[in-house]
Amino acid sequence: MNIEKLKTDPRMPKHIAFIVDGNGRWATKRHLLRSAGHKAGLDNLKLQIDFVKDLGIKNLSMYCFSCENWKRNKEEVDFLMNLFNTMLDDFKNDYLNKDVRILISGNLDDERLPKQVRDKAKEIMELTKNKTGFVINACINYGGRQEILKAVNELLVEKATKVDEKTFEQHLYTADMLPLDFVIRTSGENRTSNFLTWQSTYSEWYFPKKLWPSFTKKDLIKALKIYMKRDRRFGGVKA
Ligand code: IPE
Ligand code: IPE
Ligand code: MG
Repeated sequence: MNIEKLKTDPRMPKHIAFIVDGNGRWATKRHLLRSAGHKAGLDNLKLQIDFVKDLGIKNLSMYCFSCENWKRNKEEVDFLMNLFNTMLDDFKNDYLNKDVRILISGNLDDERLPKQVRDKAKEIMELTKNKTGFVINACINYGGRQEILKAVNELLVEKATKVDEKTFEQHLYTADMLPLDFVIRTSGENRTSNFLTWQSTYSEWYFPKKLWPSFTKKDLIKALKIYMKRDRRFGGVKA
């Protein structure tokens, strides 16, 4: 694959997102516990983050835990929380000295999240808030509807009387990020599951069958090539 050529292609997206689905099925297929799938999923996520960065894509969002994922059994939720704790440590080790901003989108005041995770998430956001080179947006305890309501409630507190799209977007977690171009949801599920509801209205979507831990760099290149062939009209007509 000719990465250098791809990197300079003007059709490359600037903000992509992963819905990292299929970890559980990946493990079950291998007669492993679902937790092993989550571990493999995180390993793959780290690899993909660096690859996306190397490709020169400016913003990467990823869905790590939805507001609805609390419905899962305690053992699985606890395992995931431990993984997020490790992931935040890894982010600090790997990116603090680089031009990388780390954003954790989601309700971080929720006491169901372990205190360590809440504190580490807030710390890394604070430490990297002025970086601009590459933005990693990890969505944890995130829901698109909940995010919209958060914005509405903040506007009510401000006693706003008239709100336009630009003002509204300043109250979303993704304020200051680039428009979301492309969303990839692995595992063959054809739904959004409450991910970036406001932001993805005009995004391109792609639903590969591969389960997240098996989704490779080559698969990402294939996805990007599919994206670049799409004709984005935003309600207009083909140029
Ligand atoms: C996605 O994988 C990861 C999270 C939701 C945390 P799943 O755990 O949903 O895997 P499947 O969909 O059950 O295979
Ligand atoms: C979406 O996957 C959430 C994440 C990947 C974190 P789910 O597995 O929770 O979604 P549904 O239940 O299949 O819609
Ligand atoms: Mg799933």
